[in-house]
Amino acid sequence: MTDLREQAIAILRTNDHGGYTVPTASGLYPAQWNWDSCLVALGFAQFDPDRAWVEIETLFDGQWADGMVPQISFREADDTYFPNSSVWQAGNGRVKTSGITQPPVAATVVRYLTERGDAPRLTERLGALLPKLLRYHRWFYSARDPQGTGLVSIVHPWESGMDNSPVWDAALAAVEPGPSVAHLRKDTGFSHASVRPTGPEYDRYINLVIGYRALNYDPAKLHGAAPFLVADIGFNSILQRANRDLIALLRGAGDEAGAVEVEGFAARTAAAIEACWDAEDGFYYGRDTRHDRVIRKPGIAGLLPLYADPTVAERHPALLRHLEAWLEQVRFGVPSFAPGTPEFEPRRYWRGPIWLVVNWMVLDGLARNGQAALSQRVLRDSLELVRQGGFGEYFDPTTGEGLGGNSFSWTAAMCLFLRSLEA
Ligand code: GLC
Repeated sequence: MTDLREQAIAILRTNDHGGYTVPTASGLYPAQWNWDSCLVALGFAQFDPDRAWVEIETLFDGQWADGMVPQISFREADDTYFPNSSVWQAGNGRVKTSGITQPPVAATVVRYLTERGDAPRLTERLGALLPKLLRYHRWFYSARDPQGTGLVSIVHPWESGMDNSPVWDAALAAVEPGPSVAHLRKDTGFSHASVRPTGPEYDRYINLVIGYRALNYDPAKLHGAAPFLVADIGFNSILQRANRDLIALLRGAGDEAGAVEVEGFAARTAAAIEACWDAEDGFYYGRDTRHDRVIRKPGIAGLLPLYADPTVAERHPALLRHLEAWLEQVRFGVPSFAPGTPEFEPRRYWRGPIWLVVNWMVLDGLARNGQAALSQRVLRDSLELVRQGGFGEYFDPTTGEGLGGNSFSWTAAMCLFLRSLEA
């Protein structure tokens, strides 16, 4: 295990490109990714607390004037990635970025780092970050929930962080594919095409980008025009958890007005998430906002209300039965999509494989919901996957094999962080 710790630290040090960490050394993702960076900070916190804060500070240097924190900040040569900065043509004047966001785990991670209390100049650094976090959360509610429903919508599958989940299939199929971009793709040069999103998916991903670029990524126009507009249950759960953590941080720092403002967001979102409970299936489903319909697909995102709210298991024990049934069908948990369904593919990206960062959210939620045994099971599986499958991007739940990019930063970070949670 000491060996594993040293390997994990070495991966983070290697992938540290000076203030930010690239997701993998392989060249597949030559930039700073939003939620990767935040989650990587949980790993740095285990051996270099100062560096953990720097990761978040660098990320927020890419924040836009309107408050959005972009999915990607391009900070180095990016021609091994498509779509790179020349396709997006976006940024804040200081940093070139993509024009969309990603799951907002930042406030949750900052709370963790703050409560550890072991970084230099902590009060000053938190003081500088808090207004930025508040502007980020405000942006979600104004730009992505202009009608005040309590659920924010994403405008691109990439915003969910779960790019090609079967949950998007119908909403994405309704998007015009545009011209084929097969010849421009770079990802399939790094990983086998059979584990990556398909050609028709990629054509639509890029056509969405081109359409949003034409609107200058203006949120006032985007929400009305986006052909893909989805209120994902996972994204909203992650935001809700971050709302709660931000409230605690603001109150702790004496910003009562800020705390009350975020409490307003959180109250709306709590009610809206609860309205996503499907009593018949015993599961949480998100909504296709554009086509005004429920997305009845059992993805791992449907478990994330546990991470947002410690009272979910008590209210909905049926949700735990789903998780248990999934675990019975695979060797390792937790698959990103329900095994045994026609869409389940154990090796293809977000259509079945295990991602340790989401495992952390599930096991953390289970622990907070008083489900210690299930939480420990997911924790054990997660560490065992690294022990026997290495530091891959994600893992096959039926075999445990590590897949995708290698020497992956967030897998290394989760290995370090999850070890700290072992009983
Ligand atoms: C892929 C993943 C996304 C991640 C990014 C960088 O696009 O789907 O969640 O942030 O790679 O690792």
